[in-house]
Amino acid sequence: MDYKLIDMTVFGDNRGHLISFEKCNNCPFDVKRSFYIFDTVPGIVRGNHANRNSEFLLIAISGSCKIKVDDGKRQEIIELNTPQKALYLGRMMWKEMYDFSYNAILLVLTNTLYDEKEYIRNYDEYLKEIKQNEMG
Ligand code: TYD
Repeated sequence: MDYKLIDMTVFGDNRGHLISFEKCNNCPFDVKRSFYIFDTVPGIVRGNHANRNSEFLLIAISGSCKIKVDDGKRQEIIELNTPQKALYLGRMMWKEMYDFSYNAILLVLTNTLYDEKEYIRNYDEYLKEIKQNEMG
């Protein structure tokens, strides 16, 4: 399973807290793009795709949500509910984001520019590519 939860370095004092992302500091890759997801209400499922080239760092900077990660063999569910933890996802991880709280804002950092061609949005196609990659 190519994912890990990262405890981020927090700069905190009596004025509050600050977290920064730099390569090798809180983020394992060079960030080329970032976006955030908001106004997604409970009951909605987002994602349902894998990316051939993108690695991701997901941070619930407000509220909470769950992420189901799947590598074609196993599935695990991770809850993000603090801005102090980030979920790293490697390439070719199938992901679903759901159970967003009403105040949820999910920040996503990635190492690529947006390219729809690197998305796999069909789960059977995903399993096929995983098998092909394993064979060689
Ligand atoms: P989509 O992949 O459906 O979002 P999610 O992963 O949360 O299910 O993306 C929603 C729309 O936004 C879709 O039309 C593609 C567009 N989009 C961009 O143009 N640039 C981006 O960086 C991203 C992530 C999405």
